[in-house]
Amino acid sequence: MKLVITGAGGLLGSALLAMVKGHEVYSLYNEHAPSTGIPVRLDLRDKNQVTEILRKIKPDAIVHTTALTDVDRCERDHTLAKAINYDATTTIAKSAKDLGAFLVYISTDYVFDGEKGMYNEEDIPRPINFYGHTKLMGEQSIKELLSDYLIARTSVIYGSTPSSGKVNFALWLLDSLSSGKTVNVAMNQFVSPTLNTNLAEMIMECLERRVKGILHLSGASRVSRLEFALEICKTWSLNPSLINPVDMSKMNWYAPRPRDSSLDVTKASSILMRKPASIKDSLYRLKEELNTPKRG
Ligand SMILES: NC(=O)c1ccc[n+]([C@@H]2O[C@H](COP(=O)([O-])OP(=O)(O)OC[C@H]3O[C@@H](n4cnc5c(N)ncnc54)[C@H](OP(=O)(O)O)[C@@H]3O)[C@@H](O)[C@H]2O)c1
Repeated sequence: MKLVITGAGGLLGSALLAMVKGHEVYSLYNEHAPSTGIPVRLDLRDKNQVTEILRKIKPDAIVHTTALTDVDRCERDHTLAKAINYDATTTIAKSAKDLGAFLVYISTDYVFDGEKGMYNEEDIPRPINFYGHTKLMGEQSIKELLSDYLIARTSVIYGSTPSSGKVNFALWLLDSLSSGKTVNVAMNQFVSPTLNTNLAEMIMECLERRVKGILHLSGASRVSRLEFALEICKTWSLNPSLINPVDMSKMNWYAPRPRDSSLDVTKASSILMRKPASIKDSLYRLKEELNTPKRG
């Protein structure tokens, strides 16, 4: 299979790249070059170039992970958020249509308002911040343009390497607690934390089996940010008294966050061989990954 991965240097993109075997893979990036695949540097806001490059590659499938994932930045800069999360997604969807390529679009739990929690694929999205709004617009564009697509919604991705120049929640917490720093963690924001390698293997299965439609692909456990942090403490035997539980309304966030955007992964668990993993299993896997020397 000729495969294009966008956002190849990102948290999910890098995990996908480490997993693709036996495929011809083009790694699209903007600033942070990926370590494997055929690297193609490209700002996805450049419509003509995106169309031209995809036309030259003629991929069988595209996994579109690129996004402006900084939720507060999206709220401050609507133009940039729309250009990356919606306009670029539309350009890619149009190319996928012209080339007959299967498109996997990575979306988010933040398309939901967080009033209900444990959202399934039939629940109606109603984003409460601009990031969620632009990601939902991306979903709608794909649904309008294509029939050969998968919209995979996920939640709070974490992994063993800082990617695209930023650390993720688990690495930040491990680093802070290991150096004796106290941290503020929201005690009443509920999510479905997702290990990037678990997500990448589920996406690869969907890609190879051409699973279509909308699918919630996240970790299998609904936890508060605080419970997530305490599980990390337990797994690494760190001091939990360094964690200050804070009401989410007191967090220094610019954009509003859904209170409970956890995802129901019953559908993925029943149709996939590679299952959404529990928080405990995922953290043990992360520990192993951190202890394994990186190649490349
Ligand atoms: N992270 C989460 O907790 C989370 C939760 C739910 C859903 N998601 C969704 O999952 C997907 C993957 O997230 P992630 O955490 O892996 O993202 P990430 O680590 O922030 O990576 C985003 C990628 O987008 C690329 N990018 C940004 N602007 C670009 C542009 N103008 N042109 C080309 N590339 C550009 C970046 O490339 P460079 O680094 O090269 O600039 C980066 O590799 C996203 O679609 C996100 O919406 C993420």
